[in-house]
Amino acid sequence: MYNSRIAGLGYYVPENVVTNDDLSKIMDTSDEWIQERTGIKERRHVVNGDGDTTTSMGVKAAKIAIERSGISKDDIDFIVFATLSPDYYFPGPGVLVQRDLGIKTVGAIDVRNQCSGFVYGLSVADQFIKTGMYKNVLVIGSELHSSGLDMTTRGRSVSVIFGDGAGAAVLSREEDTTKGILSTHLHSEGQHAEELSLTAPGMGTRWVTDIIDDNNPDDTSYYPYMNGQFVFKNAVVRFSEVIMEGLQTNQLEVSDIDMLIPHQANLRISQFIQKKFGLSNDQVFNNIMKYGNTTAASIPIALTEAWEEGKIKEGDTVVLAAFGSGFTWGSAIIKW
Ligand code: UT7
Repeated sequence: MYNSRIAGLGYYVPENVVTNDDLSKIMDTSDEWIQERTGIKERRHVVNGDGDTTTSMGVKAAKIAIERSGISKDDIDFIVFATLSPDYYFPGPGVLVQRDLGIKTVGAIDVRNQCSGFVYGLSVADQFIKTGMYKNVLVIGSELHSSGLDMTTRGRSVSVIFGDGAGAAVLSREEDTTKGILSTHLHSEGQHAEELSLTAPGMGTRWVTDIIDDNNPDDTSYYPYMNGQFVFKNAVVRFSEVIMEGLQTNQLEVSDIDMLIPHQANLRISQFIQKKFGLSNDQVFNNIMKYGNTTAASIPIALTEAWEEGKIKEGDTVVLAAFGSGFTWGSAIIKW
């Protein structure tokens, strides 16, 4: 048995900054409302025509992660790509990354777990490395939300929250099983699938032909829907549970956490968890203020920034935790 460790990290966000004031010019919202309810000040949106896609952003983040890991792209044995906003309905972006990075014909898998996508992807990669099947796995979380949001007042409770970007990690074999990813913990509760969802087009619900035939301007089924307060209430409970589950599995205490990187869903959720666990500002990393909620990309972007800022050192206990659509949630306990 082996462990896996994070050997390299990278992220990419589009240059185009969209502030809360920018949004208030196109919909009935305000900087005050957005900051007070979410903590978000600005986010990045791909400019239509600039050529950035979920895959291309993932590729840019991956190049940095590979370079920092000290391996060559030819050493990558497997690709895991987490997103809810793929370039194509099919095939998924995993194979596009294999093509665009010129990686040899290794396996590529797509993970469909929304805000928990990166933690799920990390867990998949970790299992392959633990069993000895693969040595180096590339894990990417990338999202291009802005092209699919309802940017009118009708969609404001969702559209002000989400931003575009990508993060990536190279996971490599670690012979010392007291180091690297110690454990991952994954959960789902499909009972609440529609509470945070994008249901159309779907092969079993709203057929593409129905949408085209109806030509109904009031049809919002192809925009993301979120029952915000319900999601919020579930998020704070599940975040707490899955962090505790990870700590208990490894006989760790809350006080052992050197760095908690929560999925950047809402600054109020992160602050609730921080307060509940009695963690200091130095023990919790947040960047939602700059990027909004980038779903599967949020944890790898935050992890990369925390690492770049020297906030994660060798020997640290790093905890990743996510909650989102599905509902799905998960955590990873890492000895850096
Ligand atoms: O990443 C996956 C997990 N996601 C989450 O965990 C998100 C969880 N939920 C949330 O973060 C919050 O519920 C939101 C930020 C989405 C919404 O905040 P809220 O405090 O729950 O607001 P609300 O939806 O209850 O809306 C309050 C009011 C409503 O007006 P009335 O009915 O009180 O007159 C909304 O119409 O705020 C209004 N509103 C807005 N006003 C200005 C909703 N969106 C906006 C907006 N600007 N963008």
